[in-house]
Amino acid sequence: MLALASDHAGFEYKERIKTLLNGLNVPYQDFGTGSRDSTDYADWGHRASEAVSSGRCDRAILVCGTGIGMSIVANKHRGIRAAVCESVTAARLSRLHNNANVLAIGERITGWEAAVDIITTFLSTSFEGGRHEKRIEKIHSLTNL
Ligand code: RB5
Repeated sequence: MLALASDHAGFEYKERIKTLLNGLNVPYQDFGTGSRDSTDYADWGHRASEAVSSGRCDRAILVCGTGIGMSIVANKHRGIRAAVCESVTAARLSRLHNNANVLAIGERITGWEAAVDIITTFLSTSFEGGRHEKRIEKIHSLTNL
């Protein structure tokens, strides 16, 4: 199960992402926001991140104006490795090397066609493992997150 969340600045993409996921047969849960009305990204990002941190969802896609606020919020949660990605290469490497479980996208930064490629790459790329295993482990063991 994929968690989705956005603020007002990412709302349009969140709605488009739902259509994209429906076409890919990827199940998701929408944690809000529910409109273009001005709101605070932390309120929605924390909800979706908590769902991943607790294991209720496997991964999340979070959208705000830049992706930065959402990625900061997500990385406050235990077990989360959130990557804000503005390119397909970043999305691919976030999975291969960092085993990122949260993708953050900026609706004001990334065009929709690029966002689709970033999202599909994030969803279809597996963690490489190997030398990256202990690096991932240290992200969490050297903090309480
Ligand atoms: C909202 O104006 C904007 O600050 C927010 O969507 C996000 O870009 C913050 O990181």
